[in-house]
Amino acid sequence: MADLLAQLEALAAAARGEVAAAADPRSLEDLRVRFLGKKGEIPAVLRGMGALAPAERPRVGEVANRVRDEIEALVDAARGRLEAARLEAELSGAPVDPTLPGRRLLPRGHRHPITRATEEIAAIFGRLGYEVASGPEVELDWYNFEALNMPADHPARDMQDTFYVDAASLQGAPREGAVLLRTHTSPVQIRAMLGRGRPPIRIVCPGRVYRSDYDQTHSPMFHQVEGLCVDEGITFADLKGTLAAFARAFFGPGTRTRFRPSYFPFVEPGAEVDVSCSICGGTGRRDGRRCGTCKETGWLEVLGAGMVHPRVLANGGLDPARVTGFAFGMGVERLAMLRHGIDDLRLYFENDLRFLEQF
Ligand code: PHE
Repeated sequence: MADLLAQLEALAAAARGEVAAAADPRSLEDLRVRFLGKKGEIPAVLRGMGALAPAERPRVGEVANRVRDEIEALVDAARGRLEAARLEAELSGAPVDPTLPGRRLLPRGHRHPITRATEEIAAIFGRLGYEVASGPEVELDWYNFEALNMPADHPARDMQDTFYVDAASLQGAPREGAVLLRTHTSPVQIRAMLGRGRPPIRIVCPGRVYRSDYDQTHSPMFHQVEGLCVDEGITFADLKGTLAAFARAFFGPGTRTRFRPSYFPFVEPGAEVDVSCSICGGTGRRDGRRCGTCKETGWLEVLGAGMVHPRVLANGGLDPARVTGFAFGMGVERLAMLRHGIDDLRLYFENDLRFLEQF
């Protein structure tokens, strides 16, 4: 018993010294846990009581309680002391000037205008029943050209100045020239048909495309949204109605559309689609002057489209005798430029906040 009593007194003495020396609330709390916590030193001593004769236990219990109460009181008092000292230090430190202006909140950002336009386009087609599809930006020649009716010697390839990937740099390289950065999103037409199999297929594919071009209206990387609709009985009238609805949703309710015959190897017939100029309202003149956005024509060329060529349907694993479809492809930078009357596409990629903040 004398042993346990001596241990308790030693703990009390140790606690007095250490609590007095604690310099902050955190070390004070550590001390409290060390002495009084469930796995602390006082409970450890009390566990030794089991070995005592029953008559001796009350005496040890009494001392243990006293020591515990004392340490608790020491810790409380020390805590009060530390808090008072902290307050004192704060009050006697540098004065607070409540008339100073507040700290400015960081300006709030938003997504890039191209991202916004892309999402808006996808949402418009979403409401028309289209789902979003995607495909790789590093693409096989077969999907980008061959399956779209552009064999290696086809002159239409010259319309798209292509970045080829050096086949020697690829592991397990396919044959030479077979890998490239996709020049348009049209390869996703093939992937969507092969991947989905059964019509109806209604997809839009937003994504980056690459061409070896760089000037005021061309950048080596830009964005397109491809569209594909395949089912039994799809006609050119469906294509016209769909794109007219899109144009009104994107450029405003009064927007008119015009289809001009054009050539893309993967559609037949093919068309280029113009919308009435959103800047001058299709009049060609604005504030008594020539409208620079439509070059006074009142029309803006916004996309390519057409009925999917039977051979392209076949390359997509579908039976051209049973299904028909239409496809279209648009440049997102161009659409956004035309809508806002921006004349230099490179502005999108310079990250100048004076430009970006306007959208
Ligand atoms: N892929 C064509 C281009 O980039 C656009 C297009 C898509 C034309 C679908 C017709 C049909 O120029």
